[in-house]
Amino acid sequence: MTNEGHLQNIALVGASGTIGSQILNHLLETNKFHVTVISRSDSKATFPSHSSLTVHKGSYSDPEFLQTAFSNQDAAVIALNFMAMGLQPGIIEAAAKAGVKWIVPTEYAMDGLNETLAKNLSKVPIMLPKVMARKQVEELAQAYPGLSWIGVATNPWTEFNLAQGGLGFNIPSRTATLYSGAGLFNSVTLPQAGLGIARLLSLPLTNSSNPRASLAYYANNFVYLSSFLISQDVLFDSLKRVTGTADGDWKITQSSIEEWEKACFEGLAKGDMRSAGGLIFVNYMGEGRGGNYEAKAKVDREVLGLEEEDLDAAVKKAVDAGEVEKVFK
Ligand SMILES: NC(=O)c1ccc[n+]([C@@H]2O[C@H](COP(=O)([O-])OP(=O)(O)OC[C@H]3O[C@@H](n4cnc5c(N)ncnc54)[C@H](OP(=O)(O)O)[C@@H]3O)[C@@H](O)[C@H]2O)c1
Repeated sequence: MTNEGHLQNIALVGASGTIGSQILNHLLETNKFHVTVISRSDSKATFPSHSSLTVHKGSYSDPEFLQTAFSNQDAAVIALNFMAMGLQPGIIEAAAKAGVKWIVPTEYAMDGLNETLAKNLSKVPIMLPKVMARKQVEELAQAYPGLSWIGVATNPWTEFNLAQGGLGFNIPSRTATLYSGAGLFNSVTLPQAGLGIARLLSLPLTNSSNPRASLAYYANNFVYLSSFLISQDVLFDSLKRVTGTADGDWKITQSSIEEWEKACFEGLAKGDMRSAGGLIFVNYMGEGRGGNYEAKAKVDREVLGLEEEDLDAAVKKAVDAGEVEKVFK
């Protein structure tokens, strides 16, 4: 294999977050990068002491601070809280101006290249800033040649969303809402997402003997991370195994994806954030809406040397988490 250059310096915004902390750990574990963490001055976040880690604290809306922090960085990985997405355009612009060539914007969700999803985007408002970020990078590339984005598709983080109740199950109260019209969808655990991103950024910039295993392949393209291809039925069977329960121990409600979507739109019109969140899950889980990207994930697992994982182990983490603070309140 001919490897032609690698990334060395990676800046990470949101390194203290749910996915950002996984990305940071796995980047450091490779021992291949110098990682520059960019964090807010008033953030309570703390970071591990590591010889390959530099922390810059400042304001996400201060272009000068951001440009200094991004100087000499090959890549900017951004993993912002969804309420902070309004700050992302300024962060991206500062990275481009500082000479960063690879931007991994805050995606970590759906397959942004899925045509059905692209047509239905107005149905998933939370996805719109993600589309705008990719467009912004492409526009900036006219002034900063060689600038590219890489989209990271993760679909729902398995253990996180099971614990949040996003996939139709409330584990502590043993309630399940089973949706007709739901199908197979990919899902990734948080550690596998962090590992996948570290492996992606470890690829050679170009690879003449295997172009598919190069960063060049992923320029203005998506990587598809997945630990499992699952359905609600598969998840429910795992939940029953892990909790030692049977159908009779659960309060089961039957619904449909269409009914759920309608209820979410009604809630959204009243400003209910849980409904905005629900629309993401309607589109992950609704048959034929883009949640099944297994064909692409299979190839990416091979390229990145990732394995499918043990579903019951991920489900046990969600069961052990018990009641958690909800993202969408
Ligand atoms: N696929 C899924 O299941 C799933 C689930 C949840 C989220 N997501 C996606 O992943 C992205 C990251 O989510 P996450 O849960 O990892 O985020 P998070 O942990 O809530 O926040 C990430 C970072 O954002 C910064 N931040 C938090 N609140 C902020 C504010 N008000 N203003 C400015 N910065 C703020 C913090 O960094 P500092 O304190 O260091 O400044 C924080 O560590 C989301 O935007 C969403 O698109 C996907």
